[in-house]
Amino acid sequence: MSKIGVGSVLAAFLAASSFAQNPHYQPDLEWRPPTQSQTRENPLAARPELAAGGRKLFVRNCAECHGRDGAGLEKKHSADLQLAVVQQESDGALFWKITNGNAKRGMPSFSKIPELQRWQIVLYVRTLKARAESGSGAKSQPPIAAFQSAAALTSCFLISTPIRIP
Ligand code: HEC
Repeated sequence: MSKIGVGSVLAAFLAASSFAQNPHYQPDLEWRPPTQSQTRENPLAARPELAAGGRKLFVRNCAECHGRDGAGLEKKHSADLQLAVVQQESDGALFWKITNGNAKRGMPSFSKIPELQRWQIVLYVRTLKARAESGSGAKSQPPIAAFQSAAALTSCFLISTPIRIP
């Protein structure tokens, strides 16, 4: 098989494997963050390497409903976090939704997770967008690169060391 042939088979495979598990998710229009929450910026925006710790927090707290890849689980009616309708929201809006939850539609509140760790989770949620697009040729940083540079960690609130997941 030619190089191009292998490449397109791989691209097709990636596209298929990143296919949303809950592609029909529609955001609840009544679940809107107040304007001042929407415009909040991620204080960790300049530290993309902290997404690695965000992933650990995600696996521990979120994967049971959203899946490890964030694609959502149809039977839980959870949001597919790779979808454009989610990714186009601001960091502040995602932070607010994670903090407050939407109890009536099954999304718990995570205000008990320290604030900076919630922002770390937002960093990780942003990497899911790159993953969803990788099948269509968009550039994305392999998740492993984020782990390699996670060593330069300072604040004790931020997750850096491996967490054992039962
Ligand atoms: C018990 C199941 C459950 C858990 C655990 C859970 N979620 Fe959700 N999540 C949901 C459901 C259900 C929705 C859809 C809510 C709706 O329809 O309004 C949702 C929606 C969301 C949304 C909103 C997407 C959008 O913009 O409309 C985000 C962001 C989100 N979850 C992130 C997280 C993160 C991050 C965690 C872990 C800290 C988490 N969720 C844990 C069930 C869950």
